[in-house]
Amino acid sequence: MAVIRLDVTHAGGSYPVLIGAALTRQVGPMLAEHRLVGTTTVVSCPPVWRQHSARMQDVLGGHPPLLIPDGEKAKQLTTVARLYDGLFERRIDRSAIVIGFGGGVVGDAAGFAAATYLRGLRLVQIPTTLLSQVDSAIGGKVGVNLPAGKNMVGAFHAPSLVLCDPELLATLPRREFRAGLYEAVKYGVISSRPLFDYISAHLSAIFNKDPEVLTPLIADCCRMKAVVVMADEREQGLRRTLNFGHTVGHALEAISRYRRFLHGEAVGYGMLAAAALSARRGIFPAEDMDALTTIMGRMGPLPSTAGLKASDALDAMQSDKKVSKGTLHFVLPIRLGVTSVVSDVTPKELRAALRIIGIR
Ligand SMILES: NC(=O)c1ccc[n+]([C@@H]2O[C@H](COP(=O)([O-])OP(=O)(O)OC[C@H]3O[C@@H](n4cnc5c(N)ncnc54)[C@H](O)[C@@H]3O)[C@@H](O)[C@H]2O)c1
Ligand SMILES: [Zn+2]
Repeated sequence: MAVIRLDVTHAGGSYPVLIGAALTRQVGPMLAEHRLVGTTTVVSCPPVWRQHSARMQDVLGGHPPLLIPDGEKAKQLTTVARLYDGLFERRIDRSAIVIGFGGGVVGDAAGFAAATYLRGLRLVQIPTTLLSQVDSAIGGKVGVNLPAGKNMVGAFHAPSLVLCDPELLATLPRREFRAGLYEAVKYGVISSRPLFDYISAHLSAIFNKDPEVLTPLIADCCRMKAVVVMADEREQGLRRTLNFGHTVGHALEAISRYRRFLHGEAVGYGMLAAAALSARRGIFPAEDMDALTTIMGRMGPLPSTAGLKASDALDAMQSDKKVSKGTLHFVLPIRLGVTSVVSDVTPKELRAALRIIGIR
């Protein structure tokens, strides 16, 4: 099966992102091929390690992996400190390579350890969730949460190589898989009608995790993320479009205390709300709104929004706004594949959009 290669350039150089089935069956030779020579340390988490440890045997270098506890709670400084201890015990030097083998939590925490230990080690990302394959493994943002908020401590540390192997997704729980797929739908809505249509047309093969169908899908998303991360820092507009569905999505996560929705699920609701807002302004065609609600319906159920209050969601969006210097930028779809960023959305419009997703 074909492997798709993208090259992401950044201030300090560039790195390849490879997408293809079976890529991780031979990680050792793959590193050698990319001239990544050095002691390797694998960082992973128990659910991933239980299922996929066989794939990492040739890069363990006689050491067990550094396993961090599973889940978002583990994305914190004490976990990073434990990783430093593990790296120290191995007496690794600056020529070492850290391999992040897991979802976004592992990638972000392992990446932050790699960014900071001995002022920076090389990093290879091998993402194992759909979300991390289409989003978090690319771009070099690494970090952890503080009690005060998510991703409050971090760094930019570009990986040396990213391997996205859809075979790894075979064991991913359906709900996690679906959550990642909402982010893929997001890329379609913001900038690629063909991607949106591809997902619609292949939805059952996608849910069957057919690697041949997933490879081009993941590659398309990676390409879009790469374009955005490679764009000039000042090109805020492009970067902002990635936030489609996230203004309402972040608010839903916050007001449910990060317990009810997976991130992608909250974004799913956020996309529906933003699209409904556009439709109400008369700037999003009815047939595109239908196509979006249809695909969302076909993807399966989202956790209920029952009991969540519109006033709390509006407050949460207001505090998000403070973070972004006072203006609430809202990404609105104009048609599938095209968006516009506006900053004149009124509370009345937001309430109407929240009603569409069952929040009053
Ligand atoms: N750095 C970035 O640019 C960026 C971008 C987006 C999101 N993120 C971060 O990513 C994190 C979320 O990532 P995520 O959605 O991958 O969550 P995650 O890493 O928590 O993984 C989700 C669950 O799936 C399990 N899992 C992972 N791979 C598996 C596999 N192949 N088989 C079976 N189980 C598997 C994990 O153990 C976990 O329980 C958040 O912390 C978010 O802040 C970072
Ligand atoms: Zn997101």
